[in-house]
Amino acid sequence: MNKFKFQSGTKVFFGANCLFDNKSEVTRLGKKAFIVTGKTSGIKSGALTDIISMLNEANIEYQIFDKIENNPSLENVKEGGAACRQSKADFIVGIGGGSPLDAAKAIAILAVNDIEPIQLIKNQFTQKPLPIAAIPTTAGTGSEVTAASILTIPEYETKMSFVHEDVFPKAAFLDAKYTESMTRDIAVNTAIDAMSHAIEGYLNKIASTMSDVFALEALEIFGACIENLCEEKFDSETREKLLYASMLAGLTIAQTGTTIAHGMGYSLTYFKDIPHGKANGLLLAEYLRYNNEAAQGRVQAVLKALNLISIDDFEKIMNRLIRNDIDFTREELKKYSSLAVKQKSTAKNLRSTSEEDMYRIMEKSLIDRGTH
Ligand SMILES: [Fe+2]
Repeated sequence: MNKFKFQSGTKVFFGANCLFDNKSEVTRLGKKAFIVTGKTSGIKSGALTDIISMLNEANIEYQIFDKIENNPSLENVKEGGAACRQSKADFIVGIGGGSPLDAAKAIAILAVNDIEPIQLIKNQFTQKPLPIAAIPTTAGTGSEVTAASILTIPEYETKMSFVHEDVFPKAAFLDAKYTESMTRDIAVNTAIDAMSHAIEGYLNKIASTMSDVFALEALEIFGACIENLCEEKFDSETREKLLYASMLAGLTIAQTGTTIAHGMGYSLTYFKDIPHGKANGLLLAEYLRYNNEAAQGRVQAVLKALNLISIDDFEKIMNRLIRNDIDFTREELKKYSSLAVKQKSTAKNLRSTSEEDMYRIMEKSLIDRGTH
């Protein structure tokens, strides 16, 4: 067995009504809350209403910051950090998909550290961040159980992450009812994101026997949900399974991080505004073919866990879930590969990857489109 470290700093509460059943896990965090959410996700999911009624009942003051953008920028979290500092909050409640939850982590640091947001990327802060309670409203990010935050950095024309153990949410409340307001596309794209986390955590140089347990369990659950996802049957059992699987995939990448599918996908989001999960999904089949050349056993294990026979079958599923109809030029892909190769996560991909390799994966995925 290989050596490994396993770390999680988050108490996970899962199941119907878990937020109200475990109120004290929020109320013990302080006397004033700063609620970080998106423009609509907090309200639509019902989670914002629930947390407000809970805080009112416990006589805990709160301030709402509902300005988190999709793929939050440094400017966006700077504004949140300043508002949080001014509110004198003791703790943060993050509600939403990956964007608000990742932003909550940045704001938790910026509220108590007098730094520029770009310094987050190098963990240049000294004061301990405010504690965070996290309520996911999508089944994809896994951010509720990770110490990572992905931010958009215009200066570098990409998204970059910071990871610090002090931003593991202290508590995460996973109630599938909060994911019911997702549209079909958000449900599908976020599910693909979570599946991508499990795959990239498994086809990863620092995968361990223990991270593999979470990755393979997550993939088996996705395998069982794939047909319902394709047929758009989002019954409560499927939603709950997807939420559970996305949390398991989050625990996987909390140990391993992601690799090149995410690294390449960031450019598709930054330059073409393609949703994060879809961006990964457009690349995953070719990414699997690429890794299969060097790590056939592990790629086959991914397919087996998903209950699929071949990468071609995997590609057919992706084509049922997302439309691959956006035009790219070779020049664009050259730029994207030059940016992706600089991501720290590239070095962790199971098969060592050059800029040229990334270009080929993107060319096959986005220009040749499966005519391999
Ligand atoms: Fe992701």
